[in-house]
Amino acid sequence: MYDLQTIVSRNDTAASKVDKSCIKSILNVNCFDDSIPMWVADMDFACAPAILEALHKRVDKAIFGYTSRTADYFDSIIDWYSRRHNMQIDPSWLVFNPGTVIALRNCLRAFTKEGDGVIIQPPVYYPFQAQILETNRTVINNNLIKDDNNHYSIDFEDFEKKCKDPNTKIFIYCNPHNPIGQIWPPADTKRLLDICAKHDVIIFSDEIHCDLIRASATFTSALNIDSTAKLIVATAVTKTFNVAGLQITNLVISDATMREQLNAYTGKIDISPFASAATIAAYNESENWVLAVNEALDANLDYMDTFIKNKLPRLKFVKPEGTYLTWIDFSDYNIENQTLLEKIANEAHLILESGTMFGQSGTGFIRMNIACPKSIVIEALDRLYKVFGE
Ligand SMILES: Cc1ncc(COP(=O)(O)O)c(C=O)c1O
Repeated sequence: MYDLQTIVSRNDTAASKVDKSCIKSILNVNCFDDSIPMWVADMDFACAPAILEALHKRVDKAIFGYTSRTADYFDSIIDWYSRRHNMQIDPSWLVFNPGTVIALRNCLRAFTKEGDGVIIQPPVYYPFQAQILETNRTVINNNLIKDDNNHYSIDFEDFEKKCKDPNTKIFIYCNPHNPIGQIWPPADTKRLLDICAKHDVIIFSDEIHCDLIRASATFTSALNIDSTAKLIVATAVTKTFNVAGLQITNLVISDATMREQLNAYTGKIDISPFASAATIAAYNESENWVLAVNEALDANLDYMDTFIKNKLPRLKFVKPEGTYLTWIDFSDYNIENQTLLEKIANEAHLILESGTMFGQSGTGFIRMNIACPKSIVIEALDRLYKVFGE
């Protein structure tokens, strides 16, 4: 029903993912004309037809003035999270921000002061650390524990120790977790929430990958866990429906005082007419597109799993439960991470991300985004085989 196998050109779209100077400045690797970019976390699939149609219709209105968030807009979000995740959200709890990273930065500034401690769980999405440092807050690492099978778990003892420090004010949770791809079980979330409640630490729960999960996986939002913790849940139509450039994030904050504090910090934030139209069409009319995307991701991951086991056995790869990001362990090759990234860029012509960008505990790993037509995954793995095959 949906064409997720045709390669869609990004030419003349100013997409960061294919921008050679962006690739050079962020990753410091060469990008050739035939390089395949599998780094930035957006998908190479064409947008859902209902979203395209809604945007075309909106363009045809010919006026793009200041835009209100309508009842339709709120209902589309509330219905989606109720239907898909059994989350009961009151419309007054939704706080719009133009992007999740921006929302996080605003929360850091609204709820903490310079020098305050913010916990993250490396290896983790690197803009978290960047926001903490750029706002002059203090990064507190609660490193994930990795076992011999590359399965990660949370170090609760260390977490509680760090929450006990009165300087610690916010914990940034990532569930599903980028880059390791694990979905934290509700019991883990409950334990974290309880520790945060006990030590008065706010949880910023980034759940924006929650719709892109494997057929066998289940996801429970922190919102559905019984707790007295001060909670902010980040939801984003942009990740699920591949419209990141439209910059739409809705925070769910049930605590009115916290909402007021955040709103007082940011002031009024307007939504763009395109963001509004896309959100409504996505949540109301594009559920089947997400199901199709998840099927395509499952197929790509199955292919990759078999390929690596059969042809690249020195790599270790655990299929992610959530996200479309794969976390591949190259440590058996014992190559320093940036050298490895450059080798892959120069010899395989693949643009990937170094594990160390996500923290020192990412040493030996490479992150590869497989949200693309299967032919691209096949080509990318063939290229890796040419460089790393025995
Ligand atoms: C966990 C996580 N949070 C936030 C973001 C960025 O979201 P936004 O584009 O809404 O800032 C990403 C993008 O990859 C992500 O993986």
